[in-house]
Amino acid sequence: MADGFDAAGKVAVVTGGGSGIGQALCRALAQHGIRSVVVADRNVEAAWRVAAAINETYSHGPALALELDVVESRSVEAAVEKVEAEIGPIDLWCSNAGIHAGDGLGDTSDWRRSLDVNLMGHVNAARAVIPQMARRRNGHFIVTASAAGLLTDFRCAPYAASKHAAVALAEWLSITYADDGVSVSCVCPEGVRTGMTKPNSLKAGVSSGFLEPEDVAREIIEALKTRRFLVLPHPRVAEYEQRRAADRENWLGRMRAARRRLTQATPSAAAS
Ligand SMILES: NC(=O)c1ccc[n+]([C@@H]2O[C@H](COP(=O)([O-])OP(=O)(O)OC[C@H]3O[C@@H](n4cnc5c(N)ncnc54)[C@H](O)[C@@H]3O)[C@@H](O)[C@H]2O)c1
Repeated sequence: MADGFDAAGKVAVVTGGGSGIGQALCRALAQHGIRSVVVADRNVEAAWRVAAAINETYSHGPALALELDVVESRSVEAAVEKVEAEIGPIDLWCSNAGIHAGDGLGDTSDWRRSLDVNLMGHVNAARAVIPQMARRRNGHFIVTASAAGLLTDFRCAPYAASKHAAVALAEWLSITYADDGVSVSCVCPEGVRTGMTKPNSLKAGVSSGFLEPEDVAREIIEALKTRRFLVLPHPRVAEYEQRRAADRENWLGRMRAARRRLTQATPSAAAS
């Protein structure tokens, strides 16, 4: 397999491409000369808008919009079949769609939806596209997880747990398919200014560390070039993760203190 990633002539699919990080990634891929980028989203109007804006900027018209619900395995399989038949073999799948559902422990529906999108969305995509990539001995599969998948999310247990599961899946895929020529990356940002974080008052409280979606897209393109697994747009996450691994008790104490600071929670208010 060739080193790095040269976008020229390649076909990419970006799920959740209709807004936020996915939208920025679609634009970045177009800017790097991708032959085709499929903006795949449950919100097809948003996908159309992103694709149209890209095609206005880049005269070779690289963008196409596709309605896709990553939770539905049949919908994902059909998307892969359609793209491979009508455009060409998929070189890059960016499994980026995600949701943030619930507060605190959440309810059963928050857990089901979070696990469906934030974990099974990646599983459905991996099942549909990785075997073909492995047969061709060429492909990139990118999972947008979160720093919450390495550390935690103070506000939302379904998000933290589903993102930990996404990181574990990405590691498994990387270990399993590297020898077949498929490289896997796992993107773990902290706060990024997107529709997902707008209503989030806790995250707004730490907004000084927020990045723009374009910053994350730039890091992903760099990781593609070097085939790096872990993409940390906020470099401090590496340090936090090391602290967690080195001394879990100490790390938990620091996290409790940080949570108290950010939520100003009293012990009695802590269980939501
Ligand atoms: N914004 C942040 O602070 C942040 C931090 C870390 C990780 N992330 C992750 O980045 C990814 C992108 O999030 P974002 O911040 O750009 O949010 P966003 O809400 O702006 O974009 C998410 C997109 O995913 C789409 N989507 C949701 N469910 C879908 C489904 N079932 N099928 C297809 N599309 C679906 C939405 O329609 C939307 O266009 C998510 O996985 C999120 O968890 C975000």
